[in-house]
Amino acid sequence: MAAPLRLGVAGLGTVGIGVVKIVRRNAALLQARTGRAVTISAISARDRSKDRGVSLKDYAWEDDPVALARRDDVDVFVELIGGDEGPAKAAVEAALATGKDVVTANKALLAMHGQALAEMAEAAGRQIRFEAAVAGGIPVIKALTEGLAANDITRVMGVMNGTCNYILTRMETAGLTYEEAFAEADGLGYVEADPTLDVGGIDAGHKLTLLSAIAFGTRPDFGGIEIEGIDRIAIEDIRAAADMGYRIKLLGVAQRTGRGLEQRMQPCLVPDTSPLGQLQGGTNMVVIEGDAVGQIVLRGPGAGEGPTASAVMGDVCDLARGLSLPVFGQPATTLEASPRARSELPAPFYLRMGLLDKPGALAKVAAILGNAGVSIDRMRQYGHADTSAPVLIVTHKTTRSAIDEAIEAMRATDVVTEDPVALRIEHV
Ligand code: NAP
Ligand code: HSE
Repeated sequence: MAAPLRLGVAGLGTVGIGVVKIVRRNAALLQARTGRAVTISAISARDRSKDRGVSLKDYAWEDDPVALARRDDVDVFVELIGGDEGPAKAAVEAALATGKDVVTANKALLAMHGQALAEMAEAAGRQIRFEAAVAGGIPVIKALTEGLAANDITRVMGVMNGTCNYILTRMETAGLTYEEAFAEADGLGYVEADPTLDVGGIDAGHKLTLLSAIAFGTRPDFGGIEIEGIDRIAIEDIRAAADMGYRIKLLGVAQRTGRGLEQRMQPCLVPDTSPLGQLQGGTNMVVIEGDAVGQIVLRGPGAGEGPTASAVMGDVCDLARGLSLPVFGQPATTLEASPRARSELPAPFYLRMGLLDKPGALAKVAAILGNAGVSIDRMRQYGHADTSAPVLIVTHKTTRSAIDEAIEAMRATDVVTEDPVALRIEHV
């Protein structure tokens, strides 16, 4: 029988405790499937005295995750602290420097420092595994890196932030306020330590960065993503979208274009009957298109204790079985720096604005759209109690730059009372 694979687990929050539970509950199953016992030697978190609802007395404690990463009785360092700098980064570097493999759920760290860390790991003959970093329990990294390895990937897209999807669907389906829906998502363990990462689209942008690197053989380039969060989405947008047969989703798209790599993470309207429109709560969906396979759709729980710990432990099983892969599916030194392309593929757009309720106001807006080459498909004005009227416009296909040009011109008029919100409509 092979020697046990010994883990050092840093971070005992939602995901870390989920990992401890699986190691304890499924010990026999892990041994049967990998051919060796998977054990925990040592753990680390900030507060040693916190009751975490599970017995931790069998494991050595380290206050400092770097010390944990360097321990001789640790084969795999499991980083579940979070953050793109500070203790998580220092501990991962210490683990690699002392000959350990790393399993992490930390998309922020890898989106910002993935290239350097991958080069460091591969130069040392070590691995970094990060299935849990993208789309929680969905094995999307494995699908892209292994199952689809023979494909020229043309596009990757999806809904990859459980918190945002939870908030948007609960506001629509249960009529909750933003604050109520956010509190529920937090209670389910979905929300990042810094919630602005979720609602600002940054967390989902980190995930798209990692998928792009694997899909297109490019260096992880978080700075190349056009990012917009859900923080400007009002209940009026959710209701208006529903009224017109759409739902709002924070949608990420990455694709190669003749101009370079286009990567965007933005709230979009999708048809409410489409698979993306049907996604509820913390569920994620990733769509991958390859030249040989066609389209693959992966759907499942994108956050929370069980699903995320499941993904972490899937990586641990790979290491226990002796499977070896470059961090981003090909040697890190061969990843290309791809030129960044702004998204210019035409699409219909949804526009919501407040307009002064006086003669000529709508005509001014219509003229501005016409001058920018934007054609109106549908328009609605909703009831109002004062001198400002909420107006919705759905355009025919146009480009984001034409919409931005029109919005700039609208702002310069004396009839727009509420800054226009513009959302792309995606028929996927
Ligand atoms: P969390 O519940 O906030 O837990 C973070 C843990 O890290 C806590 O146990 C905390 O200690 C510990 N910690 C913080 N600073 C530390 C330090 N300086 N030294 C040692 N330990 C420290 O976070 P989480 O939700 O489990 O997320 C962990 C990672 O998984 C993050 O990278 C996150 O992005 C990622 N992730 C989370 C989910 C999810 O659904 N939650 C899904 C996918 C990926 P104390 O408990 O003592 O404060
Ligand atoms: N905060 C993240 C989310 C956790 O809501 O999707 C999973 O990565």
